Order: sequence, then C-alpha cells, then structure tokens
Amino acid sequence: MQSLNGRVALVTGAGRGIGRAIALSLARHGADLAINFASNEQAAGEVAEKVRAMGRKAELFKCNIADDAAVHAMGEAIKKVYPNIDILVNNAGITRDKSFLKMNHSEWDEVVAVNLKGPVQMTHLFLPQMVEKGWGRIINITSVIGQMGNFGQANYAAAKGGLDAFTKTIAKEVARKGVTANCVAPGFIRTDMTAQVSEKALEHIKSITPMGRMGEAEEIAEVVAFLASPAASFVTGQEIGANGGLYM
Ligand SMILES: NC(=O)c1ccc[n+]([C@@H]2O[C@H](COP(=O)([O-])OP(=O)(O)OC[C@H]3O[C@@H](n4cnc5c(N)ncnc54)[C@H](OP(=O)(O)O)[C@@H]3O)[C@@H](O)[C@H]2O)c1
Repeated sequence: MQSLNGRVALVTGAGRGIGRAIALSLARHGADLAINFASNEQAAGEVAEKVRAMGRKAELFKCNIADDAAVHAMGEAIKKVYPNIDILVNNAGITRDKSFLKMNHSEWDEVVAVNLKGPVQMTHLFLPQMVEKGWGRIINITSVIGQMGNFGQANYAAAKGGLDAFTKTIAKEVARKGVTANCVAPGFIRTDMTAQVSEKALEHIKSITPMGRMGEAEEIAEVVAFLASPAASFVTGQEIGANGGLYM
C-alpha cells in the first residue's frame, strides 16, 4: 500500500521510539520525510538512512520544539527543502514526573512547553499552507494519561489533555478546508520513555491492562499511518486510543 505517494510528512522527535516508528511507517506508505530531533543526531540519521533505503526523500532538522525562535528557524529551513508539508505529526514529548505537591514551576513549565506549546507552534507554522493547498493532516500524539490522569503526572496529563482540546478546536476550524486534525493516545509503549519506569510499576501497568502487556511503537505508528491516509478522509477531531484496553 503506497497511499501516501507524493505526500511530505514532518514528524517531531522522529529519531527514537514512537516517532521513529511513525517516520518509518509513513515512508513505507510512500511519504517523503522531514525528520525532527532535539539532540540525538545519530539516531535521527539512522532513521533517515532507512527512509532513503525505501526510495523516499529524508532530511534532518535539529530543533528544540519548546524554543519559539528555533521552531521559526526550522520552519524556514524546512520550506527551502519541502515547499509544502502535507502531514504534520507532533510526536516529541517528555516527562518530569513528581507528585503535584512536590512539583516546582520549572518541572511544570518544561513539560507544558514541549508537550503542548511545541505542537501549537508547529501547527501555527504549517496549518496555513495546508489550508491554502486544500489538503492536510495534523496528527498529535497525546496519551492515555491525558484521558485518565495519573499519580505524579499532573504536568504531563494537563499538557496532553490540553493538546487534545486544542486538536478538536483546530479540527472544527479547518474542517471545510480539506484538513483533518486528530490525536492518537497511546497506552504504555516500550520505548526509552517507559524504560525510566520501575519494573514493579510496569508489572502493575501490565496487570491492569486488559491485553496484559505493553504496546510496541509500531502499533502506534500504524494508527498514525491510517489517520494520514485517504482511508481516514471523514475522520477528524478524534482522539484514538491505542492502549491494549487500559482506557475505554
Ligand atoms: N512511551 C509511552 O508509553 C507513551 C505513552 C503515551 C504517550 N507517549 C507519547 O509519545 C510520544 C513519543 O514518546 P516516546 O516514548 O517515543 O519517547 P522517547 O523514546 O523518549 O523519544 C522522545 C523523542 O522526542 C524527542 N524530543 C524530546 N524533547 C524534544 C524537544 N524539546 N524538541 C524536539 N524533539 C524532542 C527526542 O529527540 P532526541 O532523540 O533528539 O532526544 C526523541 O526522539 C511523546 O509525545 C509521548 O508523550 C508515549
């Protein structure tokens, strides 16, 4: 299936984890790739090599998406290589877990800046050209935590819940312009992010997940590829959970 032939996708945080799997899946479906990363150039470069090996274009763009000026500069650099971005996947995210009573302002601000302000800035940059072209896909990676809440993750839950609300509003505003906006809300997925979680906590998560296991990055990537594809043309304003049944 090469349903994304001729499309260009920009994936933030595409060097590792879920973003990596999303970039590879979109390339497999035919898209050319703009690969954003924050610091791990080697990992992002390996993704680019894999994309090129599939016969697709791939370019790297280093940028901290929490930095407004850097995001703007990246937007300019991307436009020189790819005049149009058709599919924007806001995937980059971080955690700074602590119970709210112990959480300080910088732990709150850091998480909101990367997980909420970053996607908003990216959307602000690329939505106008999608509207002008009359076709586009905004796909935001939220989290089951934004849907359920979780001990020690007030900053992360608020940012992800806010991103879902932002997505629904954008979806309404551009619904008649050929642009869809949706979220994919993963449950617990095996990546570097969850490698920080203790074995005991992961065992508990598996025990309360109906499927009894964690997910793989590729299981999120395929949902993103569906939302990017022509098959999802009537899907907008949705938050699709991929969580093994943890939240229904
Ligand atoms: N893993 C899970 O269980 C899970 C569950 C629900 C939702 N999610 C969400 O899924 C997304 C991906 O998570 P993951 O598990 O794949 O995380 P990960 O393995 O920790 O990878 C994070 C990626 O984001 C990039 N990144 C981090 N901060 C950035 C910044 N300020 N600017 C640009 N890029 C930045 C990193 O770039 P470098 O490689 O350059 O460091 C890396 O590529 C996140 O939004 C996360 O909240 C994950």
